[in-house]
Amino acid sequence: MCGIVGYTGEKQAAPILLDGLKRLEYRGYDSAGLAVRDGRALAEVVKATGKLYHLADKTDMGRSLPGTCGIGHTRWATHGDPSLVNAHPHVSGNCSGSGSGKVESDVVGVHNGIIENYGELKEKLMRHGYRFYSDTDTEVVVKLVDYYYKKYKIGPVDAITRTMVRVRGSYALALMFKDYPDEIFAARKDSPLIIGTAENAAFLASDVPAILKYTRSVYYIGNLQVARLSPGSVKCYDLNGDEITLPLTEITWDAEAAEKGGYEHFMLKEIHEQPAAVRDTLNSLVRNGKIDLTSSGITDDMLLSLSQIIITACGSAWHVGMAAQYVIEDMAGVPVRVELASEFRYRSLPMDRSTLVIVISQSGETADSLAALRLAKEKGAETLAVVNVVGSTIAREADHVLYTLAGPEIAVATTKAYSAQLIALDALAVQMAMVKGTASAEQYGHLIEEMASIPEKIARVLEDKERLQWFSSKIANAHDIFFIGRGLDYAISLEGSLKMKEISYIHSEAYAAGELKHGTISLIEKNTLVIGVLTQSRMIEKTVSNMAECKSRGAYLMGITTNGDFSVEDSVNFTVYIPRTDEHFVSSLAVVPLQLLGYYTSVNRGLDVDKPRNLAKSVTVE
Ligand code: M6R
Repeated sequence: MCGIVGYTGEKQAAPILLDGLKRLEYRGYDSAGLAVRDGRALAEVVKATGKLYHLADKTDMGRSLPGTCGIGHTRWATHGDPSLVNAHPHVSGNCSGSGSGKVESDVVGVHNGIIENYGELKEKLMRHGYRFYSDTDTEVVVKLVDYYYKKYKIGPVDAITRTMVRVRGSYALALMFKDYPDEIFAARKDSPLIIGTAENAAFLASDVPAILKYTRSVYYIGNLQVARLSPGSVKCYDLNGDEITLPLTEITWDAEAAEKGGYEHFMLKEIHEQPAAVRDTLNSLVRNGKIDLTSSGITDDMLLSLSQIIITACGSAWHVGMAAQYVIEDMAGVPVRVELASEFRYRSLPMDRSTLVIVISQSGETADSLAALRLAKEKGAETLAVVNVVGSTIAREADHVLYTLAGPEIAVATTKAYSAQLIALDALAVQMAMVKGTASAEQYGHLIEEMASIPEKIARVLEDKERLQWFSSKIANAHDIFFIGRGLDYAISLEGSLKMKEISYIHSEAYAAGELKHGTISLIEKNTLVIGVLTQSRMIEKTVSNMAECKSRGAYLMGITTNGDFSVEDSVNFTVYIPRTDEHFVSSLAVVPLQLLGYYTSVNRGLDVDKPRNLAKSVTVE
């Protein structure tokens, strides 16, 4: 996830672009860059690593970059480290540096999205004499546009549509051509892009807030469409290069609502981004119907030689480990233990080269997780980081990295990063099962298909959110909530309980359902809410019995179960159904109602959902 902006008109472009990028910083903040041109002069590219203010400082708030036409980018690294050389804009020329300064290139561009076949395209372009200075997929696209532009000599729209036919993946692209001084060309597939229009000006942006200050009249450019922006004029084209007419929409949101994409809170927005986060993460690990972990450096031989796996993490990331433990052991028969990172150093865990220590972290900066990683390396284990932030310390220090592609997560309570971590670990489990021979080729194919169906099923769970909103209004004054389940359902309960307590401040506990009767059941009183996660068919009956034990002591019951299993409804007061899927992957679905329940309860209590008290997004102290 990155943010892109563009402006062409009569005013100075750079300050407008910086202002737009500021409002898109939530989409990425590891580096930023601008390309601005002044009439016939060459485009000048300036980039800076880190937050946007570094770029603002470097350009004297944009004043040192004269010109009335330009594009800008704020980056969330996916391909290549968050470095100056990988920062956008990228250029088509064979320059030796980072592609900054006054650039001779015919094409300059910024991109949000992921080009899946960039490797093969890069090889093709290298055969045609192109040289690359960065590790990004974006430089490949910009050079491919340049290649078609020069080969067919028909013009920018033609070069762009040819490129769109050739690339696989998602993109919102903004491009400037040397021969078209005051124009910007844009294209889109599966990444957001809007075009704004005003008197003698045109704008583009990944999201409405970036341009709201200047215009409320926008075109929502569709998938596989191209736009051509010049001062005061916008033309749109289909993939054939034929001009099309798009409706002009008037934005009515206020600026703050727009930043959250119309959602009331970042957490709700991020909950809704889960289908995309899971799909992108899975797509990055599957090639031609098979799981491909080469980007992480994990080989099949390595998986075959493992004697044990230790997963270590904190908070929700630790809960992902708890879920993965059940999946890996059941699918691949490899022993897994899961340790809280803050406790890892106080154990004398036996490990050697045949141990894989997996550190899971959204931020990649959590101090306890980092300390555990360092200790595991010291002890000679092979280490794998499952991390969301590219180039973070944990990612840099681990032997292998498997990136989740959830994009920046702003709300303190994690949702989409959790889901992306879960699918990444599921993919690892499936690959291990194939390598170890515990899954047949047919089962392997089926499991991959099942994983691919998860994003659409999450979207279906989200459609039912109003019922949870209603239920949460009934429980908003609860004092205690218990989440119970067995096996994988216990792992999901842990996450449900944390989501509830961290944002609603209601005391909650997660218990392995069978453990309640060993003490905790004494806390059950009249109307205490007990939420049972009931998705693992061979354990449902037992957990329902445990819930009945609570009911007979006055508890009020909610159950989450799989669609079609209507027996649960007879035993509980409120039932939530999730779509059927292979039971190994059900956590990805069952967690969503629990996230929504926590979210709506917090809203009903009038709390600061995105920034709960006493918490920080990234905990960098031990
Ligand atoms: O950045 P990390 O994934 O390492 O963070 C780990 C925990 O601090 C984090 O999951 C925390 O528990 C969240 N607030 C849970 O929503």
